[in-house]
Amino acid sequence: MARITAGVATSHVPAIGAAMDLGKTQEEYWKPVFKGYEWTRNWILEPENRPDVVILVFNDHATAFDMNLIPTFAIGCADEFKPADEGWGPRKVPIVKNDADFAWHIAQSCILDEFDMTIVNKMDVDHGLTVPLSLMFNQPQAWPCKVIPLAVNVVTYPPPTGNRCYNLGKAIRRAVESYPEDLNVQVWGTGGMSHQLQGPRAGLINAEWDQRFLDDLSADAERLKNIPHIEYLRETGSEGIEMVMWLVMRGALGDNAAELHRHYHVPASNSAVGHIVLKCNS
Ligand code: DHB
Ligand code: FE
Repeated sequence: MARITAGVATSHVPAIGAAMDLGKTQEEYWKPVFKGYEWTRNWILEPENRPDVVILVFNDHATAFDMNLIPTFAIGCADEFKPADEGWGPRKVPIVKNDADFAWHIAQSCILDEFDMTIVNKMDVDHGLTVPLSLMFNQPQAWPCKVIPLAVNVVTYPPPTGNRCYNLGKAIRRAVESYPEDLNVQVWGTGGMSHQLQGPRAGLINAEWDQRFLDDLSADAERLKNIPHIEYLRETGSEGIEMVMWLVMRGALGDNAAELHRHYHVPASNSAVGHIVLKCNS
């Protein structure tokens, strides 16, 4: 049986990807950002922690989807996904390889479980997906695991509620546990933490709110799932809503999750960088 063993969450700031691609990680500005990922980069190499498949919850930033088509939840079911051209050419990172049979199984299981996923067979993947892979796996020739992209709309109003995301995570867990192959599966949530890229409040960071969010991923997930959109907007800036994607990851871990590692650093580009690794205890 496939099983979810751990959850990982991380910011996906595009400048972090650029810092890696351009060899700037040892510069004073970037050093403390990357230092907090060293633990995870070692942890994920341990045989028992190596995922066969990562279900990577991310958002597209008007790269694959635009105002013509905005799926609330979309699952990538093709064999592979190319890094997107986000304006400076595609990042020179490996092509993302999927476990398509497993992705189709998850799509079927979730849809029959009354989560109406959009099935995507052609989708270039932007920094929302490639930066977390770079953060965890550094710069390999090929990504060391299969990746199922799961895109959530947090770009155009209305995004799904935190509760809906949390419950989607639970449906994903049911889907994984009904797949007969023996697979070590991780669920990753990306985006956040507090940041606002636009308007008079651009640059807003709320470290206190972010830290409490990190605390409650293990201590009180029930509180997190009930945070309304307006609180994300007011307290964490217009792009802080990306954190609802962390709740898909959290819902997929079941009732008990234990914190293994945490990293928080302000700022990287315009964002508060947050990162957490949670172990699945149930
Ligand atoms: C930044 C953060 C993001 O999550 C994003 O999608 C784009 C930019 C930033 O901090 O610059
Ligand atoms: Fe983003």
